[in-house]
Amino acid sequence: MNDAEIVEETITYVREALKDSEGGHDWFHIQRVFRNTLLIAKDEEVDVLVVSLAALLHDIADPKFHDGNEEIGPEKASTFLEKLKIPEGQRDHVIKIIRHMSFKNTLDSPKNPFDSKELHVVRDADRLDAMGAIGIARAFNFGGFAGRKLYDPEIAPNPKMDKAAYKKNTGPTINHFYEKLLLLKDLMHTKTGKRLAERRHQFMLDFLEEFYNEWNGKA
Ligand code: ADP
Ligand code: NI
Repeated sequence: MNDAEIVEETITYVREALKDSEGGHDWFHIQRVFRNTLLIAKDEEVDVLVVSLAALLHDIADPKFHDGNEEIGPEKASTFLEKLKIPEGQRDHVIKIIRHMSFKNTLDSPKNPFDSKELHVVRDADRLDAMGAIGIARAFNFGGFAGRKLYDPEIAPNPKMDKAAYKKNTGPTINHFYEKLLLLKDLMHTKTGKRLAERRHQFMLDFLEEFYNEWNGKA
């Protein structure tokens, strides 16, 4: 199989595996992250097969739906990649990226023992999908699913990075902007990631301003 065929085969596998998943982590999330990945990779010197496969497989099993088990995803991805028979070095790299992608991981160990340009590309691509118009839609989708309030002025969002609140993760959805979404811009690694994040960040700020105006009955 050539690289294009490997990617096609992976797309088919992921679409099928995610066909019943919830809106925030469905195939379309993967498709957007894959597109962002290819866009970012254009300006970086990276192994395009590795970033493509990592983007496609990064949410193959969400720990939230597997009792917090963070290993199921990488294991599933590994089993699938073994069947594809790609070189071991590339396979290991893809699995390492999947293991080290999450925002939580970055918080727990800012000096992660694993790092690569390919990880940066896919992580930026995934983070972009938590920002901007799509990011807002995903946040309220998540909040609705979890039965959260939209906003509560008495549970004020902490304007600074609030690790405890992020871990507790029970507040109104607007708080999530301050606990995660507005922090993502400064965590971008790549040139294209930074540029796209800038625009999406501003869109979220505009959204919040409008939201508070409407909340407070401003004309
Ligand atoms: P990711 O897929 O980016 O690793 P998560 O699995 O944590 O992130 O979350 C999936 C989506 O749900 C993201 O868009 C994220 O911002 C959103 N989300 C996560 N936690 C919350 C929350 N407490 N309130 C609102 N949205 C959330
Ligand atoms: Ni993701």
